[in-house]
Amino acid sequence: MNKQRDLILAFESSCDETSVSVIEDGNKILSNIVATQINSHKRFGGVVPEVASRHHIEQITLCLEDALNQAGVGYEDLSAVAVTYGPGLVGALLVGISAAKVVAFTHNLPLIPVNHMAGHIYAARFVKPLVFPALALLVSGGHTELVYLAAPNSYEIIGETRDDAAGEAYDKIGRVLGINYPAGKEIDRLAHLGKDVFSFPRAMINENNFDFSFSGLKSAFINTVHHADQVGEKLDHKDLAASFQQSVVDVLAEKTVNALKKYPVKQLILAGGVAANSGLRERIERELKKFDNVSLLMAPLKLCGDNAAMIGAAGHVAWKAGVRADMSLNADPSLEFSWIK
Ligand code: KG4
Ligand code: ZN
Repeated sequence: MNKQRDLILAFESSCDETSVSVIEDGNKILSNIVATQINSHKRFGGVVPEVASRHHIEQITLCLEDALNQAGVGYEDLSAVAVTYGPGLVGALLVGISAAKVVAFTHNLPLIPVNHMAGHIYAARFVKPLVFPALALLVSGGHTELVYLAAPNSYEIIGETRDDAAGEAYDKIGRVLGINYPAGKEIDRLAHLGKDVFSFPRAMINENNFDFSFSGLKSAFINTVHHADQVGEKLDHKDLAASFQQSVVDVLAEKTVNALKKYPVKQLILAGGVAANSGLRERIERELKKFDNVSLLMAPLKLCGDNAAMIGAAGHVAWKAGVRADMSLNADPSLEFSWIK
């Protein structure tokens, strides 16, 4: 038995990736198996919950076997089992939770419940250690929020989207342009080839809070395209993408800068699927140059999307903090961090 090192076995199945990973000491990836279902959901233009659950069931034990083999470890080497228990699709979450419980129960290991969004933040830990207090701009397909981290394993929301998440808006306007789900990466590519000629709205940018709204932008975009279709006008997709992206990036960057002014932190963490956006990364890098005492930590590109390595990283911190679940652990589809007081 090798308990010299902390070995966390982590499960992630909240949406459309089945993933199992083995993490050493919270910051070293020994394996990170990700089985994506994107091809099955593409034709529906989004994730179909029932289809997702079925895929997770088919994949989870295969991923588990691969993760242990690739890491070169056995159950007896493990220190704990971490699992995403929310937010996400209930049927999808339950597959990962059930698998994690079986391993934890059978091998008498602690079971660590992990918030998926904490996982996204801790994906950045594979680049370098987090420094506290920190602020995280979390932008994914389901969430857009600014989170204050006073200390390890502490998360407080200071602002969030009131309607669509940024990634969701990318995927919905992508559909109008005939781009397959998930559309973020392709729109990001097109945006770099076009110009912001449409000047779409920048909702809530001047409001004195840290909340976001992307549904007005989405509607403005869709109306512009539909109107052009009706009058037989052909709009340049590159300019549409550039205009949309500029609007999203302006709002995210402006609100983040305002948050950094109100909450003096040592580090800004950029994480979540949309954190892979090159326009956003460039802009945040530029803005951060104005803050001498704040370092920038961006989740590695290949770990911005959903994966179990990030759950292992956050799970390790939670484990050290004494967080444990028992066999009654259930999925919490609308799990949220609490608001800052
Ligand atoms: O975090 P994630 O993998 O899943 C959720 O937890 O939601 O995020 C997926 C989202 C999708 O909406 C996808 O379109 C978006 O991230 N995305 C991007 C880029 N790459 C992925 N959005 C903008 N630019 C990108 N390069
Ligand atoms: Zn995610």
